Amino acid sequence: MGTIRPKGFTVFMTGLSGAGKSTMAQGLAEAIEARYGRPVTVLDGDVVREMLSSGLTFSRADRELNIRRIGYVAGEVTRHGGVCVCAAIAPFRSARAEVRARISQSGAFYEVYVATPLAVCESRDPKGLYRKARRGEIKGFTGIDDPFEAPESPELVIDTSRTSVDEGVRKILALPLGDRLLAG
Ligand code: ADX
Repeated sequence: MGTIRPKGFTVFMTGLSGAGKSTMAQGLAEAIEARYGRPVTVLDGDVVREMLSSGLTFSRADRELNIRRIGYVAGEVTRHGGVCVCAAIAPFRSARAEVRARISQSGAFYEVYVATPLAVCESRDPKGLYRKARRGEIKGFTGIDDPFEAPESPELVIDTSRTSVDEGVRKILALPLGDRLLAG
């Protein structure tokens, strides 16, 4: 007698620092847990960089490795029928494509582009890093003197200067996640 296992999926938020990825990821995780009673693994860039990826820099190679690690963990969670929400700048298209390909083998993958304009992210500057980057105290800061390759075909685009967290979460939950959330 087998038990019906729900299908796994990953929601991957990509966008500039200060775009609202972490806030949206937390809101989404809480909504999924409250509404569907499914636990959610959140992989947030800031936390991952303290734990899994401590010691990595912000060079292209290290950013790619960071995203590959996040994708590996998300893929394992997804493969076992879990729900994973990732929030990382993930500025390179090729690294995101690799993550998509890996996760799609074992479950569903949804890329959410948190497309808050640079000017807004910079005015928020929650960690004071844009100010430092503008002064040249930090080199290679995404959006200032390091590239961000915007997603070409994300499942969803959310600009948090126009869309509240609640509304953003509603939009994500309106993706065809439903059959994935309920038993498969
Ligand atoms: S990623 O490029 O490898 O995907 P990740 O999401 O893990 O980045 O970490 C981004 C966070 O690291 C930013 O929100 C910011 O707080 C911090 N940070 C420090 N240096 C940089 C930098 N040079 N570029 C971007 N973010 C940086």
